[in-house]
Amino acid sequence: MSHSTLAQIAKVDFKPAPKLVDNQLNPHALVAKYAVRGRIPTMAEQLKGTLQSDPDALPFDKIISANIGNPQQLDQKPITFYRQVLALIEYPDLLKNDYVNKIFPHDAIDRANEIMENLVSVGAYSHSKGVLYFRQTVARYIEDRDDHPADPEDIYLTAGASSAVNYLLSLLSNGPQTGFLIPIPQYPLYTASLALNDAKVLPYYLKEEENWSVEASEISEVIKKAKTEGISPRAIVLINPGNPTGSILTEETIAEILNVAAEHGIVVIADEVYQENVYEGEFISVKKVLRDLQKLDSTKYENLQLASLHSTSKGMIGECGQRGGYMELIGFDQSVLSQILKLASISLCPPVIGQALVSLMVNPPHESHPSHGPFRSEKLGIFNALKERSHKLYLAFNKMEGVSCQEPQGAMYCFPQLTLSKKVKAAAADSGMAPDEFYCAKLLENTGVCTVPGSGFGQVPGTWHLRTTFLAPGTEWIDNWAKFHENFMNEYRD
Ligand SMILES: Cc1ncc(COP(=O)(O)O)c(C=O)c1O
Repeated sequence: MSHSTLAQIAKVDFKPAPKLVDNQLNPHALVAKYAVRGRIPTMAEQLKGTLQSDPDALPFDKIISANIGNPQQLDQKPITFYRQVLALIEYPDLLKNDYVNKIFPHDAIDRANEIMENLVSVGAYSHSKGVLYFRQTVARYIEDRDDHPADPEDIYLTAGASSAVNYLLSLLSNGPQTGFLIPIPQYPLYTASLALNDAKVLPYYLKEEENWSVEASEISEVIKKAKTEGISPRAIVLINPGNPTGSILTEETIAEILNVAAEHGIVVIADEVYQENVYEGEFISVKKVLRDLQKLDSTKYENLQLASLHSTSKGMIGECGQRGGYMELIGFDQSVLSQILKLASISLCPPVIGQALVSLMVNPPHESHPSHGPFRSEKLGIFNALKERSHKLYLAFNKMEGVSCQEPQGAMYCFPQLTLSKKVKAAAADSGMAPDEFYCAKLLENTGVCTVPGSGFGQVPGTWHLRTTFLAPGTEWIDNWAKFHENFMNEYRD
């Protein structure tokens, strides 16, 4: 057989075909939107480049990334105990060296040893649900939190809560006639993922004037209307504490929503990634309310299917980049669970370091151990700073002309409403932007503060909002914002 050289092959004559362009791609992917990393953050990236090449080129010296709940990008320090244990399990040879006792407290070493007894290596694939030992720690945490039993077999460790959402929505979507009740405003992962799966968003609006509360009666109405239009409502998403609203659901509201879900056979997806970010009021898990209701009436709530999500990205741990999370699935039929496990198996397993971090998050240093004191003060420091800044931002917004903001009870965000003049609307239209996007663009250009327009989360038509995190350290940026706002309002007065 004769062999051709590369030179001979390159001489073969043919007309090259053009590259693929976007309109040849999956149309569902093309319509998916994710504003958290959308147009305004893209402009911020460009301005960052400008500052790098000329630090004096802009009226500010740095970009404040208030567009995304990514605490460690904004100088939040990782909690020491977590990183000590992770360092030891990444490089377990350290555990065999006496020197380790000089640099790590004994409880971090003990914890790393305990993990390594249950794990071959963080470099090996684990079970697709995650390592059993980690799932056991999660189940114990849920039991302590809710005062009801939890089963490690119901726990699926995931690569952040996002991958749990992707599994659930892709499996529950059965064509464009399948409807999902999504709070508006919402975290845009949900609408993006439903667009990808060609399923229908059934919005239910949160009541802004009542601190973004939910009304079960409205949810019933949305379900009834969807059914008359031939849409089959499949699941309802509750984000508690809320993103972008920062509001917290009461026990009563959760119970009323569970009644509606049980009556209509709708799966409940409880996104509880902010369960530790609670500054006012109390977080009650949907699982606890469901178990309490089941105690009162075992048959009515028997078939209720609940997926509860948590993550290492939020709380005081803020380890977004480690991609740790879990979902607890209760009430699902075995045939559905098998399909969820199959989806998880297709991705082989969640990152094992992220799994370990989940188990550390839910099982912090014991009170009698040396890491407890530093752990407590690190955590409290982060918590107090978040709480203080959330309040300062809320007060600052309500002092600004034409701005109103509900007091954030939890999470990491404020979602103020902006009353914008006709002049702003006209200028926005001239620049091809919605009015809230125009405001965010001007804010960014003048102060370096990067936010996300309300349209990225959904809002009552005709109202305008923006979302900002309160993660950025210091308060100078809030003062700069207030000054910008005053100038903006003067410039665009009708
Ligand atoms: C409400 C909500 N759910 C889920 C996520 C996804 O978090 P992760 O995938 O990092 O766990 C986020 C991230 O901001 C969020 O705000």
